[in-house]
Amino acid sequence: MILEGVEILKPIIFDVDTGIDDAMAMAYALNSPELEVLGFTTCFGNVPVVESTRNTLAVLEKLNRRIPVFEGADQTLVRGRKKKYPKHVHGEDGLGNTLQFEPTIKASQGNAVDFIIDQVKSRPHEITIIAVGPMTNIAMAIKKAPTIMSLVKEVVIMGGAVNVPGNVTPYAEANIISDPEAADQVFASGLPITLVGLDVTLQTYLLKSKLDDWRATGKESAKFLAEMTDYYMKAYENSHPGLGGCALHDPLAVGVAIDSSFVSTEWMNVKVVTEGEETGRTIGQKDGEPRIRVCTNVESDRFVKHFLERVI
Ligand code: BDR
Ligand code: CA
Repeated sequence: MILEGVEILKPIIFDVDTGIDDAMAMAYALNSPELEVLGFTTCFGNVPVVESTRNTLAVLEKLNRRIPVFEGADQTLVRGRKKKYPKHVHGEDGLGNTLQFEPTIKASQGNAVDFIIDQVKSRPHEITIIAVGPMTNIAMAIKKAPTIMSLVKEVVIMGGAVNVPGNVTPYAEANIISDPEAADQVFASGLPITLVGLDVTLQTYLLKSKLDDWRATGKESAKFLAEMTDYYMKAYENSHPGLGGCALHDPLAVGVAIDSSFVSTEWMNVKVVTEGEETGRTIGQKDGEPRIRVCTNVESDRFVKHFLERVI
């Protein structure tokens, strides 16, 4: 937005479960002048939360950026749900087994849920939350401070598979099945949500040849991202033989937060199946008073170009 010649940045809280595509999304967001990342909040998901925090700090250190990181949930909202960490996709360390150092920067004091609530309270109707892991932190913030959370400007969520099959089971996408109750409560909360699911992220591909371009820059951070993405692409080669690349799940959520014209959307209500074989399934319905913008199409080439111009 430009107001009387002064550019206003979009203030962002970025909720991550860092992971390889989370790391790419972080670099993309931090290199985007439209966004002001106020802080990262971490969740379990691709790895346990302690590792998710460590990976977030490690990526920031490699990018030479100092942004507050607040640790969040290490458990599902309804306690006792079994967690499975996708080591075959993100590696033992969550970063494709490339992490060879302990970050020297430390997480901030305090926890993710309080950070979210405090920021929203201090900047009513201004803050966009980008959430690219399980929805546990957001659900806990809504539970703790529902009236304050109603002051969030927008929530852009990478998660779900409304009109396409899941990527963990035939029904469920990873971020949703990791905490289905949390996702269901967030979707029912009335917050202004844009849902960036597999319907669109599986249309956005990063080709393997681009990693050579990243390495050729000679930048430490570019090499770090290329090495971990190589691992991610190998996992994709097993699940999608012949693809020659990987999908840009979490980066697309950042892209949509920067420029929503990358996608087209349909208004729906979204419910999550929380029991039985179809657990984690996101069911979109257009009847009633639909309140969630579900992304159903993406201008893939334009988005991927934008991502590539900025990520390194
Ligand atoms: C989502 O699941 C995680 O593995 C990725 O980081 C992404 O957020 C894709 O289904
Ligand atoms: Ca993620």
